[in-house]
Amino acid sequence: MLVASLVVFLSCAGPASTQNLSRPEALLKKMTLDEKLGQLVQRAGGRSKALNSRLDDAELDRVRAGQVGSYLHVAGAEPLGKLQKTAVEESRLGIPLLFAMDVVHGYRTIFPVPVALAATWAPESQERAARVAADEATSAGLHWTFAPMIDIARDPRWGRIVEGAGEDPFLGARMAVAQVNGYQGGNSLRPGSLMATAKHFGAYGAATGGRDYNSADISERTLQEVYLPPFYAAARAGAGSFMAAFNDIGGVPTTSNKELLRGLLRERWGWQGLMVSDWGAIGELINHGVAADRAAAAILALDASVDMDMVGGVFAEDLKDAVAKDPARLKQLDEAVLRILRVKEQLGLFDKPMQYHDTERESRELLSREHRDAARVIARQSMVLLRNEGKLLPLNPDKLRSIAVIGALATDGLSALGSWRAQGKADEVVTMLAGITAAAPKTLKVLSAPGADPRSTDLAGIPAAVKLAKSADVTVLVIGEDFDLSGEARSRSDLELPASQLELARRVLAAGKPVVVVLANGRPLAMPWLAENAPVILETWMLGVEGGNALADVLFGKYSPAGRLPAAFPRTTGAVPFNYSANATGRPADPDLKKDTVRYHDLPITPQFAFGHGLSYTEFRYSELSQSTQTLGPGERIDISITVENTGAVASDEVVQLYVRDPVASIARPVLELRGFKRIELAGGARKRVTFSLTPDQFAFWSPRGQWLIEAGRIDFWIGASSADLRANGAFEITKTHMGTVPAAALPTRVIVGNL
Ligand code: BGC
Repeated sequence: MLVASLVVFLSCAGPASTQNLSRPEALLKKMTLDEKLGQLVQRAGGRSKALNSRLDDAELDRVRAGQVGSYLHVAGAEPLGKLQKTAVEESRLGIPLLFAMDVVHGYRTIFPVPVALAATWAPESQERAARVAADEATSAGLHWTFAPMIDIARDPRWGRIVEGAGEDPFLGARMAVAQVNGYQGGNSLRPGSLMATAKHFGAYGAATGGRDYNSADISERTLQEVYLPPFYAAARAGAGSFMAAFNDIGGVPTTSNKELLRGLLRERWGWQGLMVSDWGAIGELINHGVAADRAAAAILALDASVDMDMVGGVFAEDLKDAVAKDPARLKQLDEAVLRILRVKEQLGLFDKPMQYHDTERESRELLSREHRDAARVIARQSMVLLRNEGKLLPLNPDKLRSIAVIGALATDGLSALGSWRAQGKADEVVTMLAGITAAAPKTLKVLSAPGADPRSTDLAGIPAAVKLAKSADVTVLVIGEDFDLSGEARSRSDLELPASQLELARRVLAAGKPVVVVLANGRPLAMPWLAENAPVILETWMLGVEGGNALADVLFGKYSPAGRLPAAFPRTTGAVPFNYSANATGRPADPDLKKDTVRYHDLPITPQFAFGHGLSYTEFRYSELSQSTQTLGPGERIDISITVENTGAVASDEVVQLYVRDPVASIARPVLELRGFKRIELAGGARKRVTFSLTPDQFAFWSPRGQWLIEAGRIDFWIGASSADLRANGAFEITKTHMGTVPAAALPTRVIVGNL
């Protein structure tokens, strides 16, 4: 149970006195039961590849009859303007429609996939990407995006790890807030803004075995400390809507989880927004085996406080009887309708229904130069240099005569867009080959060969690729997953590179010439052979529309890579799930002991590449650690400072990371937890002082009694360049056991950066 003093951050519309009704309340009074049910209906205007295709005359009649509250999979200022006009001018009450789409990492200007955006460890970049997406989407008639996806993912077999910020709740919460702010343009809905959706509320990312849609069977503490903090942070940031997850937690499907949706989110956290079901999920309560029929499913979802039914039609068709018979249900229906009308009002749709339908603005916004530039800058920040033995990177294009760009993914625009590409178009992508070619000086010959395609087992192109590699001064070998290998319903049982990619890598590396391996993929991979044999590996994920230009910037040294892994890369598939933040055990993993410790006897205890890992083109020295106090009492603050110096000549960013541990508590605590980070820019030879400011709340844990508890005792801390590269450490004492109020991982840590 959360304590009653929990912060209430959004106030509901004031009590309704009859004379002083808000517009939604006044409308509600005039609505028939059918019109109320109509508001709960979200229909698909098309399938994702054929947007608007279902918007025929019959659909317009439904709108006129007040049978629809919202459409998804629609787009375009003009077509949606017509639809909106019909709703406003030809339906009895003139209630506007909400237009929604999965605008996840860009609308037309596609940014790197979310896991790559998280790899920037720069919430301000994440916010900028979301703002650009919102500017484009709102210019194209959309009011609502089904993003951010803020599910923590600790099992990379789960295909949807590509859509989120990785394994860590603290990083995840920061990225969640950045996206809500970016989409909505602030911490509340405003006219003209794009409503954000925190999804998929619950523990969707904890699907057992990483199989999409599977049950989550996790402890209450894991739910509270790991999976929920990003949602708490998003609620506090004012996300206008939430989406309930498809799956169940310990047998309770989230769509009918009254305790979680109504009890925790609405009553205890005080969140008042619009809860949408996932696609058809209300009807799926029958498959879960918690409802005998659609009517029972509808009642369960309404009771849990789901407001809108995404495409299922269950609320519209099967709720009527129950509501007509039962005044308590009618009250719940009225609340749901009010919540929907309220967001329509907050978005300004009653006063200015046509403000999202300015076609001139639409053509100005979409894929503008400015948006493309932002996509390039952020794509550069997303890349993670996993290894750079012999300092082969950066390449000096003026000293090379020829470069071979090998791999089918190097010319695959569609894969560069990744999962959820909204209105992104493959032919607008600067592919890797195009980017390298454009950046190469005239003296540098760019050769290319596809080698092998990740989608196919055909290896016939490999000999030609090997020949090319032999003939060139250096090879850029692009291998990985195509866009269709990660995303929804794309879980994999094997985290290895697709067989054709691995074979291509073996043969090209065997050619004995210098090779830069460029990985393009949507999830952490297990690549033992590559890790053993490739001296240079650059992780690029799926970089979006400007990916090729960004890659060339990094390869040719115009920009030093500084992205960090938001999720560890395991050594083998069998080593997942692996998480740096695991609880302390009675037999801690020990590199020197093969037996009787928490480990696999056939693998080292560390992952291949750790959470937070990433290199750059320079080196950094950490020194002069200091702390403002040795003790921390309730309401107090500790400042932990460190000097970071770029000891090389090349300018680069560095991501400074703060980890903590509560070494003796009433329950076993994680061996490390991220509690602060900052991406800073440092010119060659420059130094900066970074200060992390923490309060006791950031050390609260979910106690066995169901409270957030801060226990007196020592806290150890480390500052470093990754979870496996800790450079300085200290400790302080929490002086008093007291109650916290919120998930510790959801709280931001203030960071101050000073020039020296
Ligand atoms: C996904 C959601 C998405 C929805 C609408 C579902 O299958 O789980 O994340 O928002 O479809 O496209």
